[in-house]
Amino acid sequence: MEIIIKQNYDQICEEAETIIYQAWKKKNNLVLGLPTGRTPLGVYKRLAALHNKGEIDFSRVVTFSLDEYLGLKENHPQSFASYMDKNFLQHINIKKENIFRLNGTPENIDNNCREYEEKIKRFGGIDIQILGIGRNGHIGFNEPSSSLSSRTRVKTLTQETIEANSRLFKDKNEVPRFCLTMGIGTIMESKMIVLLASGEDKSEAICKSLEGPITASVPASILQLHPQTKVIIDQEAASLLTGKEYYQWVYKNKERVSDYLEKKK
Ligand code: GLP
Repeated sequence: MEIIIKQNYDQICEEAETIIYQAWKKKNNLVLGLPTGRTPLGVYKRLAALHNKGEIDFSRVVTFSLDEYLGLKENHPQSFASYMDKNFLQHINIKKENIFRLNGTPENIDNNCREYEEKIKRFGGIDIQILGIGRNGHIGFNEPSSSLSSRTRVKTLTQETIEANSRLFKDKNEVPRFCLTMGIGTIMESKMIVLLASGEDKSEAICKSLEGPITASVPASILQLHPQTKVIIDQEAASLLTGKEYYQWVYKNKERVSDYLEKKK
């Protein structure tokens, strides 16, 4: 894991933007896995601004949404499909046929989930999966106790997640109890994972995920096994990390390492 600690939220977003932009320069038909939540909003804003400046073209980019509420139609204002359109997709020149999402009102849930996985494979897998993290360490909607090799499926949300997500609903009772989410096994097949976290309320989840044991009780801890994971967090989210100084040291020396390796060639 590469742990990148930035001063503030804006710098986290800038770093994620750069990673995506650099990857797109190498592969214009980049396949992105996208989360909802407050955390990635700044990244979406930056990418849309980059597009407006004419520096990035999304016409060959493909996106897969990470999760969706079960029971909400695509056009429901609180569906993750609406979130993604409003906050990102309608501001860029992505082609409709390149946008893939989990259907929140499927006729056959199992078939739907299986087809979603097949579609990801058909595009050669996800190049960069962006992730946020829940306060209990969930990724996507893979709540604690999710199998660490799970595939796209239905999950029951925890009371804590329902509470946290209720801010977007008029009434807490309107928050769906069930959801569809890419599984942890699905996420782990992504070629690169970029986990973003900001704020003190994420510090415990970050500490357990990065420095604790790998356990289904903290789903994000599985990322310790992924060879291409970048964790980009601000000072507050990093505040409980015992290895914080070392991670900052590694990051500071990153360019020197690449210079050294370059010279050795
Ligand atoms: C939801 C989403 C996750 C997201 C999490 C944290 O549960 N399913 O993908 O990471 O919320 O959201 P936020 O970034 O708003 O803290």
